[in-house]
Amino acid sequence: MTDSKSHTIDTATGKEAPAEISEERVLNIFTEIAEQYERFNRSSSFHQDHKWLDRLVELAPITSSSRILDVAGGTGEVTFAICRKAHPAHILLTDYTPAMLEVAKRRIAAGDARSVNVDTQVVDAQKMPFEDNSFDVVTMAYGIRNMPDRMAALREIRRVLVPGGTACILEFSTPPRPVERAFYNLYLKWGIPAWGQHYTGKREDFVYLADSIKAFPAQEEFCDMLRAAGFGHVAYENLAFGAVAIHTAVK
Ligand SMILES: C[S@@+](CC[C@H](N)C(=O)[O-])C[C@H]1O[C@@H](n2cnc3c(N)ncnc32)[C@H](O)[C@@H]1O
Repeated sequence: MTDSKSHTIDTATGKEAPAEISEERVLNIFTEIAEQYERFNRSSSFHQDHKWLDRLVELAPITSSSRILDVAGGTGEVTFAICRKAHPAHILLTDYTPAMLEVAKRRIAAGDARSVNVDTQVVDAQKMPFEDNSFDVVTMAYGIRNMPDRMAALREIRRVLVPGGTACILEFSTPPRPVERAFYNLYLKWGIPAWGQHYTGKREDFVYLADSIKAFPAQEEFCDMLRAAGFGHVAYENLAFGAVAIHTAVK
C-alpha cells in the first residue's frame, strides 16, 4: 500500500531525509551540466532519447486548443518534441533550475518552438504557483525522480489539471526480466558515469544520476503512487526493455 502522505527523501537513496539535501544537490548538478545536458542524453541513450520523447507526445492527448504544462522541462526537450509533432494553444515550460531554462530560452530564440506559443517560468513542481484546473495536459520527463517530495509533486500536477486532463510522465524504470536488468545495472554503474565524465568532467554528478535511477520505484509501484495522488486510468508503457517507462494518468 503506497503512503499518500507527503514525506521527503534523499533522491539518491530513497531513504527519508530533509528535502534540502536533494533540492540543493539537484540545483547544483543541473546548473553545472546545463550546457552539456542534451549531448550527454543523446549519447548515453544511444540516440534513443528523441524516439522516447516522440512516444510521450503520441500518448499525450494534445489538440489545437490544449494548454500544456511541461514540468521539470529543463532545456525544453519535451516541449520542443511537442512543437515538432503537434500544435497546441500554449506550452508553459517550467523548471526548478534557471540555468536549464536559459538553454531553453536560447532554443526558443533559435526557432525550436516553431510557431507554437511557448513561455518559460522557474517553478518548483512540489509547490506550483498555478490555479486549480489550469492545464489540459501535463508532461514531465526525467523529473519526478529528482524530487524529494514526490507525492506532493504528483498531487500538484493533479490539482492544476482540468477534470479529465492527462498527466504523461516519462522516467527511468526497472527492466522486468532479470538478464536485461543485470545488464542495465552494469550500465548504470559504469556506463552513465563514464559518459558524464566524457561530456562534463563531472563524474560524481552522474554517479548521483545512476543512484537515483536505481532508487526510483519500479513501474507498478509508481502506478500506486499516481493512484494515491488521486489519479484514475493509470497505465504505463515500457520502452527499451523497461529501462524507461511512460506512465499516463487521468484526473
Ligand atoms: C534530467 S532533467 C530533465 C529535463 C527535461 N524534462 C528533459 O526531458 O530533458 C531533470 C530536471 O528536473 C528539474 N527539477 C528537479 N527538481 C525539480 C523540482 N522540484 N521542480 C521542478 N523541476 C525540478 C531539474 O532542474 C532538471 O532540469
